[in-house]
Amino acid sequence: MKESKFCKESFVVKTSIVLPPDTNSYGTLFGGKLMAYIDDVAGISAMRHARTSVVTASTDSVDFLHPIHQGNAVCLEAFVTFTGRSSMEIFVKVIAEDLISGEKNICALSFLTMVAIDENGKPTPVPAVIPETEEEKSLFDSAKQRASIRKNRRKDSEQRAKTYGIEASL
Ligand SMILES: CC(C)(COP(=O)(O)OP(=O)(O)OC[C@H]1O[C@@H](n2cnc3c(N)ncnc32)[C@H](O)[C@@H]1OP(=O)(O)O)[C@@H](O)C(=O)NCCC(=O)NCCS
Repeated sequence: MKESKFCKESFVVKTSIVLPPDTNSYGTLFGGKLMAYIDDVAGISAMRHARTSVVTASTDSVDFLHPIHQGNAVCLEAFVTFTGRSSMEIFVKVIAEDLISGEKNICALSFLTMVAIDENGKPTPVPAVIPETEEEKSLFDSAKQRASIRKNRRKDSEQRAKTYGIEASL
């Protein structure tokens, strides 16, 4: 395994056109569809970085900042910004483009955490990240703070899972 890798080595771009089966009754891209795209590109980016299988451990909040209309191109960009031992933070940027006017808008930004797993499904080490551009450096420098928020959120979720249990679903 390489000791460290550049962000550009995990860079992923996916562009598609928004067609009627993927829209809601307002003619804009269905939020769940966009979240599936976000998870897809983050997973591919993490696998390019780790060159192992990966699972999604968490997705930070996704704010839908701008609607993506039927007929727009939707472009997702993703790269690994920071790593722990086995976890990778992936930054995903979603840009919509009106293909007639050329107008572009950032529609969502998201951070996901993917964990590299070995053949037994256990977390396995990943290379470190070397940020190069200003954007990469700024995301790298702020990553530890986001990781600490996630750690607390995970503890809260685990506690809530114990509190509420599975009785209601029986
Ligand atoms: C994510 C998962 C592999 C963690 O495994 P685990 O045995 O609990 O291992 P650990 O507690 O040592 O965590 C491993 C790493 O994941 C990170 N992690 C675990 N849960 C996390 C969460 N909710 N958010 C962010 N990071 C998380 C840990 O911080 C640790 O990072 P590090 O190795 O860089 O220090 C395990 O909880 C799992 O398989 N979850 C289900 C994943 C899944 O099925 N995803 C698809 C969605 S349906």
